[in-house]
Amino acid sequence: MTTSPTQIQIIQPDDWHLHIRDGEVMKDVLADTARQFARAIIMPNLKPPVTTVELAKAYRARIQSQLKILGADHFTPLMTLYLTDNTSADEVRKAKAEGITAFKLYPAGATTNSDAGVSNLKCCYSALEAMQEVGMPLLVHGEVTDSEIDIFDREAVFIDKVLDPVRKDFPALKMVFEHITTSQAAHYVRDANTGEKHTLAATITPQHLLMNRNAIFTGGIRPHHYCLPVLKREEHRLALLEVATSGNPRFFLGTDSAPHSKAAKETSCGCAGCYSAFNALGLYAEAFESVGKLDKLEGFASFFGPDFYSLPRNTQKITLLKQAQSIPHELPLGDATIVPLRAGETIAWSLA
Ligand code: NCD
Ligand code: ZN
Repeated sequence: MTTSPTQIQIIQPDDWHLHIRDGEVMKDVLADTARQFARAIIMPNLKPPVTTVELAKAYRARIQSQLKILGADHFTPLMTLYLTDNTSADEVRKAKAEGITAFKLYPAGATTNSDAGVSNLKCCYSALEAMQEVGMPLLVHGEVTDSEIDIFDREAVFIDKVLDPVRKDFPALKMVFEHITTSQAAHYVRDANTGEKHTLAATITPQHLLMNRNAIFTGGIRPHHYCLPVLKREEHRLALLEVATSGNPRFFLGTDSAPHSKAAKETSCGCAGCYSAFNALGLYAEAFESVGKLDKLEGFASFFGPDFYSLPRNTQKITLLKQAQSIPHELPLGDATIVPLRAGETIAWSLA
């Protein structure tokens, strides 16, 4: 890649963790992602969740017809299935055969639309065995759901209680620890002994690289900075920034852009999720520039994801300009509106 203070050119990135919902709102959020990324891993937490190959194929067809309308059929949705206590080994094999990219583990009750998630991972062991056997990655929302555990500790506890035991039981299973938020997660993934194999990786969101938990409470409560896993202390942000910009291929881009209408966020019990898709690459560029590591952005954004998933890297290039972009206060979302991350402010970098 070429680097200069005012512009960078990199291979086109992919988003390895994205929510685009369904129906009327999908076209609005999909356009933002397709403008920047070549591919994205599409999360399956719809209502009802995408639990079968048939449901995923129908969802993919709806996405593709939307892309056609948008004139964005260069963009490829990579589909995932929502793991449940009842997912069979046969469904895993069928998913592999039908080009489904991964399974997603939501501990029941951990986040938005996760009620049908896994209550006890032991129920899923035959499915996990099949995933390990056919080379199907398991993407993990890494938080315990026990209400006794402090919400800021749920990710760290998950590592000891769930992630590490599963990795011991399925040493060849490819796993992605999604949207990590703590130094414990960053260091666990960095230091994990995976032998010769590349079996463990993590995605990191722009908000967790740019903000700490003060951002939820600056001058009042800030619902648009509330996502799950929730923002953590500054020391955790620094640990995430350090691994993301280190050139370590175990860490790659996943925005976790999670659209909820303005009304659903600004209410007495607001939904979790930040809408970062509007200029996600600008946000990541800011984060990397803040530690003088813009030269490490291309690996994180464009190489390490496809390498982990054994997919070809993209070949086309994009250019990011150091040109402040004003972010609108609101954007259309079906017949409602959505408040993007940085609404009413600027982002220092934008897509050429
Ligand atoms: C996501 C959503 O809204 O679907 N919300 C979030 O805060 N990240 C779900 C998730 O990824 O946890
Ligand atoms: Zn998510």
